[in-house]
Amino acid sequence: MNFSDSEIVASILTDEGFEACLDLLEADIVLLNTCSIREHAEDRVRKRLHYFRSLKKKKPGLTIGLLGCMAERTKIALMEEEQLLDIIAGPDSYRHLPGLLEQAGSGQKAIDTILSADETYADIHPVRLDSNGVSAYISIMRGCENFCSYCVVPYARGQERSRDPGSVIREAKDLFIQGYREVTLLGQNVNSYQWKEGKETVNFPGLLERMAILDSQLRVRFATSHPKDLSDEVIEIIAKYPNICKAIHLPVQSGSNAVLDKMNRKYTREEYLGRIRAIRNNIPGCAISTDIITGFCGETEEDHQQTLGLMKEAAFDFAFTFKYSERPKTIAAEQFDDNVPAEVKESRLREIIGLQQELSSSSNHRDLGETFEVLIEGESKRSDKQYFGRNSQNKVVVFPKTVQKPGEYVKVTIKRATSATLIGEAI
Ligand code: 5AD
Ligand code: SF4
Repeated sequence: MNFSDSEIVASILTDEGFEACLDLLEADIVLLNTCSIREHAEDRVRKRLHYFRSLKKKKPGLTIGLLGCMAERTKIALMEEEQLLDIIAGPDSYRHLPGLLEQAGSGQKAIDTILSADETYADIHPVRLDSNGVSAYISIMRGCENFCSYCVVPYARGQERSRDPGSVIREAKDLFIQGYREVTLLGQNVNSYQWKEGKETVNFPGLLERMAILDSQLRVRFATSHPKDLSDEVIEIIAKYPNICKAIHLPVQSGSNAVLDKMNRKYTREEYLGRIRAIRNNIPGCAISTDIITGFCGETEEDHQQTLGLMKEAAFDFAFTFKYSERPKTIAAEQFDDNVPAEVKESRLREIIGLQQELSSSSNHRDLGETFEVLIEGESKRSDKQYFGRNSQNKVVVFPKTVQKPGEYVKVTIKRATSATLIGEAI
């Protein structure tokens, strides 16, 4: 999400005549896009600001701005604390950056953290940063109103709003013409995407279908799905179109009903496993990944065991795992006690990571001997004689170079596997 926001900022500023530079030491303006999701993310920003302080000492005219969620969450307080900051701009204020830069240029501190009910940056053509020219992100909605009790996003990114489907399709078409072959539709909860077009309403399966029929050579991915909103209709559309990737990211967070209820996730363990069954039954070979938080307020050993049990039952192909980190203003911070000791969070996380490694490894070993269509992304980091790409399941596949170029598809048979990578040969 943040990466996609940086591309929007780059576009707005490029249109105003600013130029991105590759070397930080050459920059006259440094804008730091920030995340607030866990305390660790904010700690990293503070460290980075520390480094910027030394840059500013050497170059007093340097303008430094803080963008995104941490800017939104901390507003003026952070500017008072971190005197080096000239600009603070929240996630809905990027259009005002040229004005804020002008204000900062005249020596005044500039702040804009007003959240909007309708800003989607639909008309902005993102400048693709750090691009491999093959895969790109398209933001289809902003904000979130689910208010999971641990999560800062609804406060930092505001109300949920969907983007005009016409502008999403246009962006995808442009990317395809430029040679991109994979787009990932992004939103906090893409399944609740909704856009009223006259009498017609475009929902997420509708948008997915419009994307899928653009060109069979364009792969479509999406993230993230909230389990409560992953409908049978979405599953049907994924199954129907070969170019909609067979990979679903479905954050479960916990396997215990007591914890899920306290997290305000609005589904039970049984309902979640029901969705997993629906995916497995209707989309053969679909990869399922998840997010798990360990050590949430009041989580018992029994709850933790339920999470481990669910992981095995769901047989996740991949998981992002986190220790619970209390975030200011959230329901959990205001109402619950962050009472799982740090060392218990640590040891539970280790167990979860260990189990996921086993699950990922078995998932990859099941692919031995299988042949996948792989979209080549570039040269492998380890060897210039090898390519790397991804299969539809979003697994990284490494194989000896072929005559094809990045951005082209090649069929690869899997010969070896680790828990992170599939190694194969093109056929
Ligand atoms: N502490 C730990 N992890 C969190 N996440 C969101 N908020 C928190 C928090 N306060 C995790 C969730 C979410 C992912 C993007 O980040 O697992 O799905
Ligand atoms: Fe946060 Fe829940 Fe919204 Fe995801 S769905 S962004 S976890 S509030």
